[in-house]
Amino acid sequence: MVIFKTAAQLQDFLSFRAITTPKIGFIPTMGALHSGHISLINAAKKDGMFTICSIFLNPTQFNDKKDYDKYPVSTDADIEMLLQAGCDVLFLPSVEEMYPGGTNTVASYDFGYLETILEGAQRPGHFKGVGQIVGRLLDIVQPGRLYIGQKDYQQCMIITKLKELLGLNDLSIIICPTSREQDGLAMSSRNRRLTDPQRALAGLLYQCLVSIQTKKDSGNFPIVQKECTDLLTAKGFATEYIALADANTLQLLDNYDPPRPMVALIAAKIGEIRLIDNILLQ
Ligand code: PAF
Repeated sequence: MVIFKTAAQLQDFLSFRAITTPKIGFIPTMGALHSGHISLINAAKKDGMFTICSIFLNPTQFNDKKDYDKYPVSTDADIEMLLQAGCDVLFLPSVEEMYPGGTNTVASYDFGYLETILEGAQRPGHFKGVGQIVGRLLDIVQPGRLYIGQKDYQQCMIITKLKELLGLNDLSIIICPTSREQDGLAMSSRNRRLTDPQRALAGLLYQCLVSIQTKKDSGNFPIVQKECTDLLTAKGFATEYIALADANTLQLLDNYDPPRPMVALIAAKIGEIRLIDNILLQ
């Protein structure tokens, strides 16, 4: 694996080796890698792509400075995992490299409705930051395929919208299934910050999603939603939202509406740690 810290070095390497867009599979990350990230590397490799992973803890997508300061960093272990996975290139830029003229000088995009709801409502400015950095990374890496995890469902939709806004017709966005721990907890870098007692409870989010899914044909969503909120509250979570939405548009729904494709989404805090997850109702 080759590691590049600047866009110019990465681009020189790609043009010298004649590695062009159709061959490039790109996995953007913020580091603190876990098997969920590695499943994205594996998917790109399985597709026969030249695999480029980026690690960049993007300051502009953190609406909460404390979350940014406490975000786990484990670059040496990340490099080891990428080596083991057979990743071809790691792009590891500095903040100055990504935002040379400051964070306000990099293009930002309007995602309309998508950035006003759920994560957008709870974390104002978050998706503007995601759009800024993913736009900048796409411009540098010029991949043919971008691999992201379904765990960040709304982010997947934002990135798909970004592709449209940038007119990147040749770019495929590959959304890979959420990797889960044995108790169902969605893998996330933030899980490392859970204490043992918090970790023991964290699987409840997935259990709530499964119960929402199970009741889709006969149940009443507001009732299931309340049962889940009450359960989480009783166990010490602060629930931010438990929502049901159209899986294609993310239009929020008051109740189950089969056979419309639907997704249930959840965000809750346990102590200081904010967890999100989702499940497609099928
Ligand atoms: O999902 C993430 O890790 C980040 O939001 C991303 C897509 C790498 C942009 O910083």
